[in-house]
Amino acid sequence: MTDDSKSTYPLDMPEPNDPPQPVAASPLPVSETPQPAMVEPRRNFLSKSLAVVIGGIVTLVPFAAGLAVFTDPLRTRKKGSGNGDDDGFIKVATFDELPVGDPPQRFQVIDDRVDAWNMFPKEPVGTVYLSRSTEDEVLALCVTCPHVGCPVDYDTARHVFQCPCHNSSFKPTGEIDNQDSPAARGMDALEIKIKNKNEVWVKYQEFRPGTAEKIAEA
Ligand code: FES
Repeated sequence: MTDDSKSTYPLDMPEPNDPPQPVAASPLPVSETPQPAMVEPRRNFLSKSLAVVIGGIVTLVPFAAGLAVFTDPLRTRKKGSGNGDDDGFIKVATFDELPVGDPPQRFQVIDDRVDAWNMFPKEPVGTVYLSRSTEDEVLALCVTCPHVGCPVDYDTARHVFQCPCHNSSFKPTGEIDNQDSPAARGMDALEIKIKNKNEVWVKYQEFRPGTAEKIAEA
């Protein structure tokens, strides 16, 4: 006799009244398997720190050197550099070039020229007339006309300085020669020093044009 109370479910299927069975966890693929945390070895840390420090030095040293060169003209800027002495006098000529009684002669004033960032060594920074009236007396006059600043010529035939711009003329001593001169003052005399018995040193300056008073430009 057949037992009908027996279930007809397949053997691998739970019967309706069976208690729930635990589900077996499926294994993860190898690539997704959690790995134990890696602890960076102390040696690697020190190596990386050292590399950062060396990299910083390699970058900063050339930068600092370039900055020093870039700012060097400002740091080395000083008065009376080049041909000049500490008081701002510059050697312009010797007595050999200035015979007593000769007409005034033009001389360039050579000095180092400095702007905010650059230094240009030994460049013309101005022009002066020098004349020697006695063995020891030298007169230095700025070549710039005190009217509005044209360079003045010396007329050896008339023995006067003549400005080509507006017809001012000046005596060899620099005083105004023509009464209708538009210049309000005579030519500007410059300070001189005689050094080593025959060197003529001039303190070169520019003065404000157009004024009766002699006012040095800054
Ligand atoms: S600039 Fe010399 S007279 Fe005017």
